[in-house]
Amino acid sequence: MKTVWMSFSSRCWLSILAFSLIAAPMSLRVPAQTAEPFKAGLVIRADQPQGTINRNIYGQFAEHLGRDIYDGLWVGENSPIPNTRGIRNDVVAALKRLNVPVVRWPGGCFADEYHWRDGIGPRDKRPQRVNTWWGGIETNAFGTHEFMDFCELIGAEPYIAGNIGSGTQQELQEWIEYMTSDSNSTLANLRRQNGHEKPWKVNYLAVGNEPWGCGGSMRAEYYADLFRRYGTFVKSYSGNTVQKFASGGTPSDFNWTETLMSLAGRQMQGYSLHYYTLPTGNWDKKGSATEFGEAEWHQTLEHTLYLDELISRHSAVMDKHDPQKKVGLIVDEWGTWYDAAPGKNMGALYQQNSLRDAIAAAINLNIFHKHADRVQMANIAQMINVLQAMILTDKEKMLLTPTYHVFEMYKVHQGATLIPTELTAPDYKFGQASIPSLHASASRDAAGKLHLSIVNLDPNHSAQVTTKIIGMSARNISGRVLTAPAMNAINTFDKPDTIKPAPFTGFKTEGDQIMLSLPSKSVVVLEFQ
Ligand code: AHR
Repeated sequence: MKTVWMSFSSRCWLSILAFSLIAAPMSLRVPAQTAEPFKAGLVIRADQPQGTINRNIYGQFAEHLGRDIYDGLWVGENSPIPNTRGIRNDVVAALKRLNVPVVRWPGGCFADEYHWRDGIGPRDKRPQRVNTWWGGIETNAFGTHEFMDFCELIGAEPYIAGNIGSGTQQELQEWIEYMTSDSNSTLANLRRQNGHEKPWKVNYLAVGNEPWGCGGSMRAEYYADLFRRYGTFVKSYSGNTVQKFASGGTPSDFNWTETLMSLAGRQMQGYSLHYYTLPTGNWDKKGSATEFGEAEWHQTLEHTLYLDELISRHSAVMDKHDPQKKVGLIVDEWGTWYDAAPGKNMGALYQQNSLRDAIAAAINLNIFHKHADRVQMANIAQMINVLQAMILTDKEKMLLTPTYHVFEMYKVHQGATLIPTELTAPDYKFGQASIPSLHASASRDAAGKLHLSIVNLDPNHSAQVTTKIIGMSARNISGRVLTAPAMNAINTFDKPDTIKPAPFTGFKTEGDQIMLSLPSKSVVVLEFQ
């Protein structure tokens, strides 16, 4: 969907296709229930490789909130649930299959009330604190060593969110020293005494979280100074270099971005953006995770697509101050957010995850790819049992959500080279609102394989997509599809495999074109070699 220069032949081809779409397709205007497929065209410009899709775009986020950490990840060494040093084995195995590059921890809002010394040393001596943001008592059983152990078990890098709301600059500086120094300092020796001889690498640090709200109700100017001050004392120990990320404002606060970039742009390596998709767009009545019709389906996807505009507009402000794009845009909270299910605790933010979430996840990931020159990391909120989770658990049971399957199917794009795609497709309309019916992204991996991910947003019509690859002749094609008969299909603990990827056979080669038949409401990932 990137606008790129097109060769004459591809322009001709697209015009013919566009004409046929405008002139021919009575099928596009017929009522949805006839379920006529719609026609579309796709050109994949393998001859115009672009930048690298940073694999950190596939990052995760785990907060001390609801059952993300406790129950979801940490069950303790004495639990009957199989675990490694207290960390669930089933969850580790599932996350390893995603090649999770990076995990943000310990919050969220929780980060600005977290004092790292509470979470080290013998567990039975750790203080019990009130979790003022999300409720309940924080036992501190899961602290720095447990988090680092978890990261090592799944092969991910840690991304630490530092406390600047209720913690001192000295406390943050000392946490970094504790984790990363190989010296003979008292703090490095304390880490050794607590069981970890070698320092860890900590490459990413958020200097606070949402300082405009739960992180301290600050103004942008005040936060910019605080960021500079705290950042100054975050030192590099023993060859470890910490990239410091500043927090963005509310999603569409472009003035905040302007202020931060002008006052602290040279001190930061990353600038964060949080954006949640609410079906209604109204925080007081967000909408249900599972009880919805086509109106909410359409609205949810429309709100998801808005992230593209948000990234473009924040990037434009960043470009003014940082034309060389040295500062990464870090979308370190994103995903769907629904009302709590009836009878469920609002504070726990537990929600089911349907086919709609899978479609939203795929669109978001495509958007991140498109902005690969600026978006250097993204962390879906959140990893387990909270918001748009990968995994849901119920005591010893675990299920993989439709969103998990999208992350698994899309992992082929991690670290690959972005390949531009040009789509010509009718809009998917509902009432007065229109959104694109298809959303695509492509990349080429180090082995030369081309991967296309393409989403059909239309819940009623399949799509026939005439596809042409320029700059590569594909001999072998294979693919997988994620779909279900109902828009709100979910996986449950009794039926955990209702939605899972299946082999995709809806393609055939005709000359130099590939005809794709995409089911309605589906995500397809294809491999061309
Ligand atoms: O992800 C849940 C919460 O949403 C986070 O704690 C906070 O940063 C955001 O507002």
